[in-house]
Amino acid sequence: MSHGTSHVYISHLKEHVGQTVTIKGWLYNLRSSGKLMFPELRDGTGIVQGVVSKKAVSEKVWQDFETLTQESSVIVTGEVTKHPKLENTFELQVSDAEVLQVAQEYPITPKEHGVEFLADQRHLWLRSKRQWAIMRVRHELVNAIRDFFNERDFLLVDSPILTPNAAEGTSTLFELDYFDLGKATLTQSGQLYGEASALAFGKIYVFGPTFRAEKSKTRRHLTEFWMVEPEMAYYNLEMNMDLAEEFIEYIVQRTLKNRMEELKILERDVSKLENIKRPFPRISYDEATKILERKGVAFEYGNDLGAPDETVISSEFDRPVMVHRYPKEVKAFYMKRDPENPAVALCVDMLAPEGYGEIIGGSQREDDYEALLTRIKENELKVEDFAWYLDLRKFGSVPHAGFGLGLERTVAWVCGLEHIRETAPFPRMIHRLTP
Ligand code: 4AD
Ligand code: MG
Repeated sequence: MSHGTSHVYISHLKEHVGQTVTIKGWLYNLRSSGKLMFPELRDGTGIVQGVVSKKAVSEKVWQDFETLTQESSVIVTGEVTKHPKLENTFELQVSDAEVLQVAQEYPITPKEHGVEFLADQRHLWLRSKRQWAIMRVRHELVNAIRDFFNERDFLLVDSPILTPNAAEGTSTLFELDYFDLGKATLTQSGQLYGEASALAFGKIYVFGPTFRAEKSKTRRHLTEFWMVEPEMAYYNLEMNMDLAEEFIEYIVQRTLKNRMEELKILERDVSKLENIKRPFPRISYDEATKILERKGVAFEYGNDLGAPDETVISSEFDRPVMVHRYPKEVKAFYMKRDPENPAVALCVDMLAPEGYGEIIGGSQREDDYEALLTRIKENELKVEDFAWYLDLRKFGSVPHAGFGLGLERTVAWVCGLEHIRETAPFPRMIHRLTP
């Protein structure tokens, strides 16, 4: 691999126009016409078209390209030139090449494949242009999430993944044996630890993987997904909603600013994302049910909103809508009741536009010891497992609130994807554990 020229990543080619550089990558595609060949090369940072002219290369290099298969690994040297017609596009006038491996017949070709086939080939599917774009949008969103909270003096607190208690109901727990201590579960949410941390550090966020043994086989559910959960001492529900809308505006606008190329590859209608500016509409559960009634949707008052209901409600708005104050029965035990109407919880769900469903769930937390103890018992949770959580209501209890944003649902919405399976590098679903 001794080439006299310097190795450059494709994303940096524009800084090397007129120079001879070396690219280390793979063959993405190859077109040829007579005495010219046009290999598309990818190196993970981008794709560049090479131009191989029979006159300009050795007989060996010409023959190598003639036999090169899709995804063969190759090191290519050439001069960087500006594309004759396209702005901001560069080409490589190939002068030399070294083939590392001629790939076997690659299972994913430019033709259409079924989704199950592609999902089985996920370890290879990740190399395609579309998956490249999605993973880079995901990366941008993760960084935007971190920057938003870091810039606002939130402390990052990592919550444990192995836990003794259920944070979000007992029906979706993954259980495992934990030495002499009996059963442990994989965390469904870092929130309870987030609350302890907020009382220690004021404003915090938890950001990590969470697990739900979801029986539902929908295009919105994974069994393993990432959640970011801010939690703030001395915050009520209104302040929580203010933060949530500022947060969503920030991460969407940041992605628009930095990832236009990727969104273009995904053919995303970015005008829909440009709309995502504060203020977002806020409606109560009661108002949401009136929309359903007006639209002729069969819905029983008091039930939780299902995915189809959410789609109808969100289609009334051109930006995310915050639905607050659901009946307490359909929400988690830790949510504070509205003092003005104890039948409802001080909670909020944010529904993404264009039918992408709930991306945020949050609430003001129950801060009264007796009320929380009663709720834990009513929910048939083990009081001893929650002793530490109850302590937070004994030692300097304060109003506090927080929310959780599902990363993959957000990626699906921002990228405009049909199914959540493409938002994680190696998604986990009820019927999929490989690759
Ligand atoms: O509404 P959820 O269940 O809320 C909580 O877990 C709270 N403890 C959060 C908090 O207040 N700190 O989940 C929050 C978000 C949902 O709005 C959704 O975006 C995502 O997590 N989510 C899922 N994403 C993918 N697959 C699943 N199975 C998901 N379940 C929830
Ligand atoms: Mg929820």
